[in-house]
Amino acid sequence: MTGPLWTAEELTAATGGHFTGPCSALITGISIDTRTLAPGDLFIALKGENSDGHAHISTALEKGAAAVMVHDAISSDDPRLLVVSDTLSGLQALALAARARFAGKTIAVTGSVGKTTTKEMLRVALGALGQVHAAEASYNNHWGVPLTLARLPREAAFCISEIGMNHPGEISPLAHMVRPDIAVITTIASAHIGYMGSLDAIAEEKSALISALPANGIAVIPDDAHGQSFFTQAAAAVHATLWSCGQKPDSTVRASDLHMMAEGSSFQASTPHGTVSVRLNAPGQHLVRNALATLGVVAALKGDLPRAAAAMASFSPGKGRGAFTHIAGGTITLLDESYNASAASVKATLETLRLIPASRHIAILGDIRELGDFSTTEHAALAPVAAQCADLIFCCGPHMKSLYDSLPHAKQGAWAENSAALAPLACAALRRGDVLLVKGSLGSRMRVVIEALTALSHVEPA
Ligand SMILES: Nc1ncnc2c1ncn2[C@@H]1O[C@H](COP(=O)(O)OP(=O)(O)O)[C@@H](O)[C@H]1O
Ligand SMILES: [Mg+2]
Repeated sequence: MTGPLWTAEELTAATGGHFTGPCSALITGISIDTRTLAPGDLFIALKGENSDGHAHISTALEKGAAAVMVHDAISSDDPRLLVVSDTLSGLQALALAARARFAGKTIAVTGSVGKTTTKEMLRVALGALGQVHAAEASYNNHWGVPLTLARLPREAAFCISEIGMNHPGEISPLAHMVRPDIAVITTIASAHIGYMGSLDAIAEEKSALISALPANGIAVIPDDAHGQSFFTQAAAAVHATLWSCGQKPDSTVRASDLHMMAEGSSFQASTPHGTVSVRLNAPGQHLVRNALATLGVVAALKGDLPRAAAAMASFSPGKGRGAFTHIAGGTITLLDESYNASAASVKATLETLRLIPASRHIAILGDIRELGDFSTTEHAALAPVAAQCADLIFCCGPHMKSLYDSLPHAKQGAWAENSAALAPLACAALRRGDVLLVKGSLGSRMRVVIEALTALSHVEPA
């Protein structure tokens, strides 16, 4: 039988707080949002920039929270209030306690793109080998990382954390909280370069994850990633080992015999602990890269490679992250990448678009955000790959204007100020048999285009 996630005594011991009355709560989950709170949860009243969980304490209690962590003085005679000096510090203290008692293996994933996708692939692969606990959604920041740890069941075999950053210095404290046994860096690319300044600075920042490894810990790194010297230095300083991963002949984890098709990819993955055949039922080279890193982790853990590889056949990309749908009565295929964009992922998904047989390939692209002074050049630099992979390209947003203007005239569909203005222009141009890619940063609101496309009942023949 599995025990509770936390007992009341464990909560007070971990946080240094006290309950307002006699409380023998057994906590079964952690909530920071009463809309998704389940009975038995500990509700933590976090204070954000625009919200304060303290406003929702009575809702949490009514919905059956087993305990509520607060830091403001609350007039209530409910014994379930756990008073701490600061709720974010309280959450972090729980995270440290969860990590300290955990006897399984921890894996942490960082990188410029591909963190959530790789984390979800690891969830599938390691799920075939034991109980997995993994970060929800993209919970990868100063509250997401400790929340994942605080929710870690003591009996799990694997904990998979995602660690993100927008600004220098953010990875190190999170990495030291997680103390991974295995570190994965998915990619080094220009995401958030507006804040970071250079690819070197990005690589150095990501190498802080390697610095949190124990001696003999393993870091799985793409063999073509920018900034190898930062990774080597970081690994040497803590006596960890670097495993390179990719298609180079001397890489530690290597893909060979690669076949990429519209339905998915197949390849052989060779690792220091054996070689396996892998079949992915979702297309794209970027997924092959993430899969190779995933198998690198399985091998680093000395896990059952054939079993993990077999499980990966059931991986499918999430909503807005590469899921395929059919629209206009099934006559048009839509690759929905509307959740997020960076230069690297726009390139990766344009190449994926090209893999799908179609009468015409159409790309509908919104601005990539957070590129700062690099915006114009990074957008314009994508024009050749866009022209190579798509027959017609629609763009919206001020930054995408530079890509649009760099395209050959015959490939220019239309440009508009924003996604709402672009949607009708793109819809009007569609013909049966087209395959579409929709991609942009979340702030570019490309969901608006997806909604307009999904509402189309029929389009003209080609
Ligand atoms: N290894 C990769 N290299 C390039 N692009 C990738 C890779 N993995 C995923 N992508 C693309 O990046 C987008 C965001 O992926 P995601 O895993 O959510 O990244 P993150 O969690 O790092 O923000 C996906 O929709 C896909 O288009
Ligand atoms: Mg993410």
